[in-house]
Amino acid sequence: MSGPLLLSVESSCDETGIALVEDGRRIHANVVASQVALHAPTGGIVPEVAARAHLRWIVPVLDEAMATAGVTMADVDGVAVTYGPGLAGSLLVGINFAKTLAWAHRKPLIPVNHLEGHVYAGWLLDPGEAEREAPPFPLVALVVSGGHTFLVEMRDHLDYRYLGGTIDDAAGEAFDKVGRLLGLGYPGGPAISREAAKATAHDRVFPRAWLGDSFNVSFSGLKTAARRIVAQARADERLPADEREGSLPEPVVAELAWGFQDSVVDVLAAKTIRAAEEVGARGIVLGGGVAANGALRARIAGEAEARGIAMVIPRPGLCTDNGAMIGAAGSLRLKAGVRAGLELDARPSLPLARPAA
Ligand code: KG4
Ligand code: ZN
Repeated sequence: MSGPLLLSVESSCDETGIALVEDGRRIHANVVASQVALHAPTGGIVPEVAARAHLRWIVPVLDEAMATAGVTMADVDGVAVTYGPGLAGSLLVGINFAKTLAWAHRKPLIPVNHLEGHVYAGWLLDPGEAEREAPPFPLVALVVSGGHTFLVEMRDHLDYRYLGGTIDDAAGEAFDKVGRLLGLGYPGGPAISREAAKATAHDRVFPRAWLGDSFNVSFSGLKTAARRIVAQARADERLPADEREGSLPEPVVAELAWGFQDSVVDVLAAKTIRAAEEVGARGIVLGGGVAANGALRARIAGEAEARGIAMVIPRPGLCTDNGAMIGAAGSLRLKAGVRAGLELDARPSLPLARPAA
């Protein structure tokens, strides 16, 4: 081992994740129990159901992580846990679990901001993956998930300056809502990107909310426009206006999915690249579930490369919620001397960085 080995716990939303990460970078195990199938029938997360599923899965997930890494608690140097933002009931399951482990095995307990975890997923190395350079500072990080969408500037580790973010809905939320409109089920993001890839026509243009020179974004108007455009497509196909009745032909769904995705990607990519240019960034880091989107990844990677900016996008499984990202951020917090006591509580609305006053 070249550095501390952290056991890290993530349970802020609908994935139960436990990982073992060495020195903030090397993954030894990263086990995620997803509740996607559980929440699909309701088309979204029911908090009570999510919290109970975390309780059900957290011990088996720990057992599998320890077995995969081939370690015992004696080898572990600390326990990191997400304490916010997220669903209170879900967070509390992970927090109490981590507290118990830390207390019983006399290990330091390290509180981690979930959003900081999404940023630090960019530092992770898979088991057996060749060493690669860490993202260079200064950098711009774009976090795009189901609950958050924002850009920060980082001049050093753990140092964030808020550049802009959504003034209404998160990008992932828009993907999920439009996925439902198109009859694609939950979660909408992966389904929309699959459908969009099949599009052969690209004529239906969705609006873009540019919001001037700011680094803010807005997706609520796009959602309303999507409702109107989908209703028009249903009328064109002589289908009932009720979106639950009769489905649109697949090529039309693909074209609409493409048009919506193109609007989101266009705005996010343009703002991210402009932010990077403005702060003189040497690197761009993407994180959060929507960063798993192939079109967004390709667009930002291409534009960054053309400008000689290093681009770091974790593989899709590390963009969505997982325990390893909490271990990566937790390791830096451990080094910085951050510790929590047994009074650690859930912070459902914890921010990473705030807009300047
Ligand atoms: O980061 P995450 O796993 O959970 C939160 O912290 O919110 O992000 C989940 C979000 C969901 O809205 C999901 O639809 C979206 O990420 N997502 C995607 C893709 N994969 C997941 N959105 C677009 N394209 C994808 N491939
Ligand atoms: Zn997340």
